[in-house]
Amino acid sequence: MTEVTTTAGASGKIILFGEHAVVYNRPAIAVPVTEVGATATVTDRSVGNGCLIIAHDLQREFLLSTAAEDDALALIVRLTLAELGLSADPDWRIEVRSTIPIASGLGSGAAVSTAIVRAIHRHVGRAASPDVVSALVYRSEEVHHGTPSGIDNTVIAYERPVWFVRGEPIRSFVPAQPFLIAIADSGIASPTRQAVGDVRRAWQAQTAQYEAWFDEVGEIVHAARRAIEDGNVAQLGPLMDANQRLLSQIGVSCRELDLLIDVARAAGAAGAKLSGGGRGGNLIAAVDEKTAAAVADALTAAGAKRVIVTEVKNEE
Ligand code: PMV
Repeated sequence: MTEVTTTAGASGKIILFGEHAVVYNRPAIAVPVTEVGATATVTDRSVGNGCLIIAHDLQREFLLSTAAEDDALALIVRLTLAELGLSADPDWRIEVRSTIPIASGLGSGAAVSTAIVRAIHRHVGRAASPDVVSALVYRSEEVHHGTPSGIDNTVIAYERPVWFVRGEPIRSFVPAQPFLIAIADSGIASPTRQAVGDVRRAWQAQTAQYEAWFDEVGEIVHAARRAIEDGNVAQLGPLMDANQRLLSQIGVSCRELDLLIDVARAAGAAGAKLSGGGRGGNLIAAVDEKTAAAVADALTAAGAKRVIVTEVKNEE
């Protein structure tokens, strides 16, 4: 029997502006990161024991029928099969690979889930519209993150810069001109859930102060969108610096991030800030063709675990 195999992929994502304030209904901007990604491959098989799932990077191999209710990979497979009205346990092999570091704010979970949703749709000849993909991935994220903002599934499903306000319809937008950002991993693992919980407690204790800071973040995010849509990318560096000052006040930066942000600026970045949950994880820096290499080298020399320079494209 010739094996029928179908493959689909999904890119990573990074938040440019507005993290944390977005939890309190202010806008945020996130963009796809096409330099990293996940792929899923669905292959028909005739073993007769149902769907076998292999996650190469996690060294996991298991039958769908034996997976726990809340297993992330099994869950997105089950949700997709149900959405398509397919057999609950088809005789398939689903293989997943990812170059996106786990739990680092690059959307690895949502990218893996998106690749699986797309590959299953393609395998059975059904179209996977971005809104269907986004909704399915959101439901799988809910099981793992409680109340995810919805940024990851939205950016990754639509593959465009996204303007995101909680509870409002998602709006993707196209930059007037492409621009570069450097993304550096501080190497410090920091669960987003912890930082979000700490911010909530601080907001409860000092509501007026935090609301005022979130308003200021909101204004920066509006200005950043105007700059991106008008092609004034030189403004993005100073806006990152302003957003970073507020993130420090909100209490989600840390000494190591502050140091790497200073290094990026000293090496020629037009501005820099943490990205995502903070207290570790990634920082981003506004660079251009002339400064990208020097900023990446300086960040690596200062201890960043990995630096990705990505181009935010101006494609429809
Ligand atoms: O660490 P990331 O990229 O998943 O982003 C977390 C962003 C927060 O605003 C801190 C939380 C959220 O759910 O939006």
